[in-house]
Amino acid sequence: MAIFSQKKQLLVWIFSSCLLCLTSGKVSHEYDFGIKAVNLGGWLVTEGWIKPSLFDGIVNNDFLDGNPLQFKSVTNGKYLSAKSGGGTPLAADQTIVSDRELFRLWRINDTTFNFRVFNDRFVGIENAGKQTQVVAVSKTPAKFETFEIVRKPGDSSLVRIKAANGFFIQVNEENVVTADYAGYTSRWKKDDPSVFIVTINGTAHGEYQVTNGYGPEKAPKVMREHWNTFIVEDDFKFIADNGLNAVRIPVGWWIASDPTPPLPYVGGSLKALDNAFLWSQKYGLKVIIDLHAAPGSQNGYEHSSSRDGSLEWGKTDETLQKSVAVIDFLTARYVKNPSFYAIELINEPRAPMVSLETLIKYYKAGYKAVRKHSSKVYVMLSNRLGATDPTELVPLARGLKGSVIDYHSYVLFSADFKNMTVPQILDFIRTNRSAELNLINKANGPLTFVGEWTAEWEYKGGTKKDYMRFVKTQLKVYKQATMGWAYWTLKNVNNHWSLEWMIKNGYIKL
Ligand SMILES: *[C@@H]1O[C@H](CO)[C@@H](O)[C@H](O)[C@H]1NC(C)=O
Ligand SMILES: *[C@@H]1O[C@H](CO)[C@@H](O)[C@H](O)[C@H]1NC(C)=O
Ligand SMILES: *[C@@H]1O[C@H](CO)[C@@H](O)[C@H](O)[C@H]1NC(C)=O
Ligand SMILES: *[C@@H]1O[C@H](CO)[C@@H](O)[C@H](O)[C@H]1NC(C)=O
Repeated sequence: MAIFSQKKQLLVWIFSSCLLCLTSGKVSHEYDFGIKAVNLGGWLVTEGWIKPSLFDGIVNNDFLDGNPLQFKSVTNGKYLSAKSGGGTPLAADQTIVSDRELFRLWRINDTTFNFRVFNDRFVGIENAGKQTQVVAVSKTPAKFETFEIVRKPGDSSLVRIKAANGFFIQVNEENVVTADYAGYTSRWKKDDPSVFIVTINGTAHGEYQVTNGYGPEKAPKVMREHWNTFIVEDDFKFIADNGLNAVRIPVGWWIASDPTPPLPYVGGSLKALDNAFLWSQKYGLKVIIDLHAAPGSQNGYEHSSSRDGSLEWGKTDETLQKSVAVIDFLTARYVKNPSFYAIELINEPRAPMVSLETLIKYYKAGYKAVRKHSSKVYVMLSNRLGATDPTELVPLARGLKGSVIDYHSYVLFSADFKNMTVPQILDFIRTNRSAELNLINKANGPLTFVGEWTAEWEYKGGTKKDYMRFVKTQLKVYKQATMGWAYWTLKNVNNHWSLEWMIKNGYIKL
């Protein structure tokens, strides 16, 4: 699109490029604007589904932070329940599971945990007359909110739960739950009121889970090994050799406090990012840094390193300021590297929990932090996940020179796509995705970028030919993004999500 303000910037860039031509023989921004990038997902921000084996060495690796557990008493056959969602004593009186019967773990170590209930209170013990009652009232976990889970040897689905007073919890008459079991614990009989059947109802496998799961002694070694082997120099050569010209690199906020980030995070990801810049420069690739995990988590998902599904980002100014400081730090660090092309201020903040107002406030501050160091690094603004209007950032972006709206395009994760046939899916991309991009591509508007798309869908049983048509159709539509696109992701145990696999197996040729 002919965009006045960007044209003007382009002239500035061409001018400064020519200065560079004269001085170093190099041209900066030679790819304006046809970015063909691949995401380096699951590298510096862990996503367990991309590389499940990363979690193999964790003891009790089904008891990770945020995993919701449900406990069914073997004596009365009923589920433990946080009545009213929390704030009251627990009871073992429910026959079906709702959110109130789920207990999200906070892991202390391999066997010791806090349990968080629906309204974010923690389970604890409290003296009530003669009995030690089990309640869900505390807003923060301390000694009396700490429990040990003891599994039956040889049958990990049976557990006992030991409270801080040294007693196991048990289910009494009238379904009352107390922490005072004094019976035998060597047997696991069906009439034992301290025995529960545990079921894990959903899991999260993010950076918090992997680092806290291994704990402070093992995590540094495991993570550094992962960073050094998952993505290596050869991958950058492969990327450059196969028609791509850029990488989008998800990073976590803790990278800015390397080498000693707050626990459970581990130092060393900054060194890996340094290497990525070195190799990008060597193979002529551009780098888009993407703040994928912001302090407190901006969407509650594992890929933003939420501890237990909560979303805290934006609820306090501190989380915004901390994020701006990360952007400031990263921009300053790489501003002199000719490969540094763009920085994305935050990835997929989730609507409506993150309000447009909060996001705009942050985007303005983050933009300013980047411009303090550089007038030419592009500033990417991710659309909100779940926002109904894909153009909601356009008015803001119009006022921010060199800003880019990042629009993610998956044909997944929604019931809408479940029963679509291949032609229907292709048609949906041609019409819907094309229309949405065109809505954002406004005169005098910002640049556009499809920062995440992939060649997987809900359709089952697609042939190689189907997948190739899927890719082709998407590429044709994403051409409308004025800056370009980035495939999600380079490597993944799920083949269609792995650009490396797709290229090596002849599904994609660029
Ligand atoms: C998991 O929890 C949800 C409530 O969030 C419940 O509807 C579902 O039945 C549970 N799954 C199992 C297998 O119990
Ligand atoms: C786990 O933490 C609890 C509570 O701090 C402690 O008593 C226990 O010894 C720890 N266990 C291990 C295996 O480190
Ligand atoms: C998809 O098809 C199945 C089987 O025909 C049906 O049960 C289901 O309701 C459909 N789902 C949607 C979202 O249309
Ligand atoms: C694209 O499809 C989504 C639902 O899948 C819908 O909410 C949205 O309005 C559509 N956009 C356009 C421009 O038609």
